[in-house]
Amino acid sequence: MCGIVGYVGSRPALNIVIDGLRRLEYRGYDSAGVAIIDSGVIQTEKKAGKLANLEKALAERAADGIGTGTTGIGHTRWATHGGPTDRNAHPHLSADGRIAVIHNGIIENFARLRAELEAAGIEFQSDTDTECAAHLIAAEMRALRESGAQDGPALLAEGMRRVANRLEGAFTLLATDVNVPNAVVAARRNSPLVVGRGNGENFLASDVSAFIEHTREAVELGQDQIVLITPEGIEITGFDGSPAVGKEYHVDWDMSAAEKGGYDWFMLKEIAEQPQAIADTLLGRLSERGEIILDEVRLTDQDLRDVDKVFIVACGTAYHAGMVAKYAIEHWVRIPCEVELASEFRYRDPILDRSTLVIAISQSGETMDTLMALRHAKEQKARVLAICNTNGSTIPRESDAVLYTHGGPEIAVASTKAFLTQLVACYLIGLHLAQVRGVMYSDEVAAVVEKLQATPDSLRTLLSRMDDVRALGRDLRTASTVLFIGRHVGFPVALEGALKLKELAYMHAEGFAAGELKHGSISLIDDGTPVVCVVPSPAGRGVMRDKVVSNIQEVRARGARTIVIAEEGDEDVRQFADHLIQVPHTPTLLAPLMTTVPLQILACEIAAARGNDVDQPRNLAKSVTVE
Ligand code: M6R
Repeated sequence: MCGIVGYVGSRPALNIVIDGLRRLEYRGYDSAGVAIIDSGVIQTEKKAGKLANLEKALAERAADGIGTGTTGIGHTRWATHGGPTDRNAHPHLSADGRIAVIHNGIIENFARLRAELEAAGIEFQSDTDTECAAHLIAAEMRALRESGAQDGPALLAEGMRRVANRLEGAFTLLATDVNVPNAVVAARRNSPLVVGRGNGENFLASDVSAFIEHTREAVELGQDQIVLITPEGIEITGFDGSPAVGKEYHVDWDMSAAEKGGYDWFMLKEIAEQPQAIADTLLGRLSERGEIILDEVRLTDQDLRDVDKVFIVACGTAYHAGMVAKYAIEHWVRIPCEVELASEFRYRDPILDRSTLVIAISQSGETMDTLMALRHAKEQKARVLAICNTNGSTIPRESDAVLYTHGGPEIAVASTKAFLTQLVACYLIGLHLAQVRGVMYSDEVAAVVEKLQATPDSLRTLLSRMDDVRALGRDLRTASTVLFIGRHVGFPVALEGALKLKELAYMHAEGFAAGELKHGSISLIDDGTPVVCVVPSPAGRGVMRDKVVSNIQEVRARGARTIVIAEEGDEDVRQFADHLIQVPHTPTLLAPLMTTVPLQILACEIAAARGNDVDQPRNLAKSVTVE
């Protein structure tokens, strides 16, 4: 939630900051704003709504401009405290106009701090929690100056450090001082922040996409750290003032991965990238001895042999990936596997100990609900294994082991390639556990991996014949409700199809376990209600497939318009389908890698036909860093 950019160097900061915000807009688009230090003045501009509104406002003031200053910060907001108005847009200034602050997260003790500041005579200009930080930094710096400290980057960093220690909650704060033109300081607690190391210039951002055009050298920060960037260097300290060292890394993707590449929407580009994303996630995972290779493992094979129960924690689409994983893990590993919504996990007081393996799935690696579930698991001594798409993010860093999905940047708010690559990672982990624990032989593991390796080609074929699905999407744009049904791994696929439609098309959609419909929800079906039915392969799980076909007949008998997703060769199902979408054969457990894809395209097409912004649906943000 909220995208943050900071720049210091020798080039005009404004364009660099705006370009960075454009690539971070997926994190929130309720408002946007910039502050540039130019000739001893902080120039700010901020506007409610998308970045385009800010750009328009900047263009309108072209006569005097916002200056050519080479130090700047910028923010794109997902509102928490205070509505999405111009007034609440970041940056926020201190009362003396010296300090500009932007913020991602929530300052939980802001009411107390605000009361204290108001009692001291400060008049607030916004309803945000962020504004407190601006006033507090100014006050701390003033106090330091009064006791003899000199203005300069070190004073700005010390002011920020003192304030960070007073704040409760989760935050990334960036601040600039009008009298310290070549410095931006940041504080980080439980909220994303990465440093870009340039040549005579340095960057701060919520993620690397904001500065990838300028540098691919990044520095990962730890929790509770302050970082000061100047054109000459990067200085990291802890909240206690002790020096710290960040982890340097090279970003292995470039700008083109963060651009639309000719597609109307990032979502369409990311759907098209799925075959490659799967192939990349599988690449190099099988050792010469036929074992699955994880990325960072701080667990021994004995630890994995000791596991007697698996919990998967995740949110939204990642939770649906976890639901699929449960079927695979229980089938292959033969140990109990529970899937939990991360936001509910710790409140339920789950029974965890050293022999519990908690798998945390997160594309961004920053989802606060998942992070809190992970921390709860660690407090209870469980081992945590992360599946993540974002190098250097918090969730993998705090886990005992990590399997990265090599999906590349996912910009569209709706998860597509993240989902499929999370599935692949879950399959790999299931196979790894089964192998380490001696439940599967390496040739059996290799046989499944071989099937997985065939999926990119099958998916390419599937993607090449989606015209009918697009036409169907346009046709369904006026439907008032769409239901989705599936069994076994088809059930999470149904949930995922419904989630995509809700979030993109703003339509009522619900996913059901196919057998559950008759226990109440079937009464939703009226003449012409579209029902998307995910049919299992007749090969291997014939009984299950036949049960779903019965469920299709039940809804059809009540007037439903059936949209059936079935395997090629299952001709028998045609008679029950008003629309048939055929997908290539895959083994049952791997089928979601195929059956989900038409549902992504359907949702995208319906949303576009309804005139919605597919990449940035209303009320949402890509990375949900609040609980
Ligand atoms: O970054 P994460 O995978 O932790 O995000 C979890 C959910 O917020 C996310 O999957 C969300 O449901 C999707 N963007 C929906 O398409």
